[in-house]
Amino acid sequence: MEKVKNHGFFKFLAPIYDIGARIAMMGQYDRLRNQLLGKIEIKKGMRVLDMASGTGYLAEQLGMVDLVCTDISIEMIRRARHKSKGDFVLADAHRLPFKDGVFDAAVSSFAMHEVAQPPDVLGEMFRVLGPGGEIAIMDVVRQTRFSKKVLLEIFHTFVEMRTATYVDISGLKDAFSAADRFNVQWEMFDLVALVWGKKRD
Ligand SMILES: C[S@@+](CC[C@H](N)C(=O)[O-])C[C@H]1O[C@@H](n2cnc3c(N)ncnc32)[C@H](O)[C@@H]1O
Repeated sequence: MEKVKNHGFFKFLAPIYDIGARIAMMGQYDRLRNQLLGKIEIKKGMRVLDMASGTGYLAEQLGMVDLVCTDISIEMIRRARHKSKGDFVLADAHRLPFKDGVFDAAVSSFAMHEVAQPPDVLGEMFRVLGPGGEIAIMDVVRQTRFSKKVLLEIFHTFVEMRTATYVDISGLKDAFSAADRFNVQWEMFDLVALVWGKKRD
């Protein structure tokens, strides 16, 4: 489980992503993303980062905020820009092109398993978040129960084509704790973990 996708793959994926992801997630696509948005307070006028925004699902939901979407794939960004408002920035999540503390909130859905160094990406999200800012991350994570391990293996093989690196939930929580200035909370939805927290003022 240690190979991440070649970024060129997302060029192929972009046109079919919205339909493909909905099929792969068996009806959970909207429900899970709404869970993510429900965990933190996002209000009109806030400056919000969506890291690895893909085709811009969250951008469609967050119409009233000052939203910045970043992604490493220009094809994903083109599709997102077509569908929704916001600033769309081509950027590698390991080196976000923003100054420290410039966002009021940061979100990311189903991207951690695609990046080479999840702790570095989380560190970048923490860095660009201002004091009192909230962060929510959602993704498929490693499993401990046998039945869930089998399910993850099926997902890894047939959906991810064995190119994904999964963090475990404790790794995500530890990253928040290591950052030291976050209150961390979490919830599991089958294979998916949702971790959120608020940066102390
Ligand atoms: C599975 S999609 C998720 C998209 C969207 N967040 C969603 O919930 O539908 C993963 C996204 O991560 C992007 N990505 C992969 N590696 C990245 C990196 N190093 N930096 C930024 N984006 C990356 C891909 O281009 C793709 O759009």
